[in-house]
Amino acid sequence: MTTQKVAIVTGAARGIGSAVAQRLAQDGMSVAVLDLNEDACRHTVDAITAAGGHAVAVGADVSDEDQVIAAVDRILERLGAPTVLVNNAGIIRDNLLFKMTVDDWDTVLGVHLRGAFLMSKFCQRHMVEAGWGRIVNLSSTSALGNRGQANYSAAKAGMQGFTKTLALELGRFGITANAIAPGFIATDMTRATAERIGVSFDDFIDAAAQETAVKLAGQPEDIANAVSFFAGEAARYVSGQVLYVAGGPVD
Ligand code: NAI
Repeated sequence: MTTQKVAIVTGAARGIGSAVAQRLAQDGMSVAVLDLNEDACRHTVDAITAAGGHAVAVGADVSDEDQVIAAVDRILERLGAPTVLVNNAGIIRDNLLFKMTVDDWDTVLGVHLRGAFLMSKFCQRHMVEAGWGRIVNLSSTSALGNRGQANYSAAKAGMQGFTKTLALELGRFGITANAIAPGFIATDMTRATAERIGVSFDDFIDAAAQETAVKLAGQPEDIANAVSFFAGEAARYVSGQVLYVAGGPVD
């Protein structure tokens, strides 16, 4: 009998993280559905359980060292050693540079970069002990530059450098690290952007679709499919890569 692999997906209460958690559960993993508020994870956990999978809800702020340590310990106790980590938790605080506050900067860098650093740091030991592991980090096409997102684009470009370094340091232990850089994906995050700029979400989705080569708006499942590949056995020779999942080439 093979034991079930344990995956942690951060920011999994909704959106891309929720779809990723459900997909990894379908792939046969036990999943820790981690988000700021444990109760908010209920929806994702219930969907996994209803589909016959195994999941637990974990409340933690990924940018807080003590909370990350406690969360990883709790997951170890409840599910076993985590050997798959998806650093998906994210926020936006968009503004043009001259209006961006220091708090906008620190908060965004804190969740994406500090969060991915802390989660990876406290999970890697379990992967090294297992001699196997998979880390998947969520970057973005914004890493290439996006007006109004100096903080977010810096964080998402940082995720790519972080990923490549993890790949180099951890490869000898059977651990791969890869990044996925989505283009537009229809979630609450992009819904909030549409609201902020005063456009209906439907119009915002249509406009985003028209900008892609495939003339489609991305869905959370499009990212979950890519995570599923990187997190699986089949990707053992793929590490330190950035996969743009954006409906076309990006530059
Ligand atoms: P979302 O806003 O729908 O979900 C993000 C989740 O992260 C929320 O449940 C939130 O509570 C959680 N979160 C935020 N701060 C946290 C913290 N400190 N600790 C734990 N959880 C925290 O966002 P969405 O669209 O699902 O995005 C997921 C990831 O994909 C993010 O990293 C985002 O930057 C990235 N992304 C999204 C794109 C899109 O078009 N939606 C495009 C490119 C990248």
